[in-house]
Amino acid sequence: MRYLLLSDIHSNDEALAAVLARARRRRFDRVVILGDFVGYGAEPNAVLDRLRRIRKEKFFIRGNHDKVVCGLDDGELFNPVALEAARWTEKALTPRNREFLEALPLGPLAVDGAFEICHGSPRDEDAYIFSYRYAVVNFQGFYSRVCFFGHSHIPSIFTLELHGIRVEVVYGEHSRKLEEGRRYLINPGSVGQPRDRNPAASYAIYDAVKRLVFFDRVTYDVERTREKIHRAGLPVMLGDRLLVGA
Ligand SMILES: [Fe+2]
Repeated sequence: MRYLLLSDIHSNDEALAAVLARARRRRFDRVVILGDFVGYGAEPNAVLDRLRRIRKEKFFIRGNHDKVVCGLDDGELFNPVALEAARWTEKALTPRNREFLEALPLGPLAVDGAFEICHGSPRDEDAYIFSYRYAVVNFQGFYSRVCFFGHSHIPSIFTLELHGIRVEVVYGEHSRKLEEGRRYLINPGSVGQPRDRNPAASYAIYDAVKRLVFFDRVTYDVERTREKIHRAGLPVMLGDRLLVGA
């Protein structure tokens, strides 16, 4: 079974379309999305409609932006730019797409008994896992050997080994065989708003039979996406940061 792992799409339909085109060539059986479908970008409905058209079994959890745009959270932790984008998104959503976001489950969620998924971390959907210190407590927050997470927008692998935790940031295309006797927290990076100074969309595919995670980056029309953000009247910096992957 091959799982397509997508996180932090953030209303970026250009990036999502490019990722799906690439992933289809690499083959996948099921789709797993780790939250933050919307927020920041100009095309929340196009993203949700495109995902709906994928004829594969799907597993979803909510992200912090998904909660705020449908009023399940007041956005108190958001900076002013993120909050402005959330309010814009709230007005732009079709009733059907709003209902979809409202119904998204809170992680962690077990997928096929093979692994778990969460947004920020297994213990707190709004918390980040940036370093080993955050990973230490979070390895106690799930039961499987592997948990995929998002939220930080940084493709990364945290490996619980016998004598400590190995922390790796993944640059570009990379294959990783998961080893027996280890546990993993793995972030496939962000489709729609990478923050590792690489503007290319990030995603991963997990082959649960071979226990292989494949990380990939896909270039897409960032300039066009930026123009859509500017034309929508969203904060200008939300478009500009896509150019540099920040
Ligand atoms: Fe996000």
